[in-house]
Amino acid sequence: MLLDYSEVSGINKYKLMSDTVVPRPIAWIVTEDKGVINAAPFSYFIPLSSNPATVIVSIGHKEDGSQKDSLANILHSKKATICFVNAANVQAAALSATSLHKDESEINKYDIDVKPILEDYPPMITSSQSALFCEYYSTVEIPGKTVPIILEIKKQYVDDDKIDDRFHVHVENLGRVGSRFKAMVDL
Ligand SMILES: Cc1cc2nc3c(=O)[nH]c(=O)nc-3n(C[C@H](O)[C@H](O)[C@H](O)COP(=O)(O)O)c2cc1C
Repeated sequence: MLLDYSEVSGINKYKLMSDTVVPRPIAWIVTEDKGVINAAPFSYFIPLSSNPATVIVSIGHKEDGSQKDSLANILHSKKATICFVNAANVQAAALSATSLHKDESEINKYDIDVKPILEDYPPMITSSQSALFCEYYSTVEIPGKTVPIILEIKKQYVDDDKIDDRFHVHVENLGRVGSRFKAMVDL
């Protein structure tokens, strides 16, 4: 079957892409605004380059057309802490995808434990084995309602027992395949 994307609906393009470009890493993004700590998962997310250390994440809009809280917070504060999902916190990550009012914190509502690592960045989710402390770098202009933003990694946290002396990191992050969370398996 050959699919011509110019003839496929938006939702079907989403299904085709998200079932095919797999597994997608998940950025569980923590941001802050006026003391409200926001957390939400994003899987249209990928590393872009190591030097500079950049990642890209595409953030859509809320149903009412307004910016998602994560995007609004990043554009305002220029900071984001990217955490990672594992078997221990996958339910909390799924819950934190619920769209809440901007003044309401997913961290408080779903009782997600966070710990401050750096004074000038949002806290990280305690159960994540690694976190990337990022600064807003730029926005990629594309038509439509999705806003791809580039973030630059300034610092990284890794649990002591997950990094070896040669800088290799051994985390048990989950990815996204279609609309399901998937663990990585060794072949
Ligand atoms: C695993 C997973 C991946 C998601 N990936 C994205 C994504 O890449 N882009 C996006 O806009 N929304 C994505 N969502 C939906 C957002 O998490 C959801 O809209 C959330 O409410 C946004 O929260 P915020 O308004 O606090 O930023 C994803 C949801 C889940 C569960």
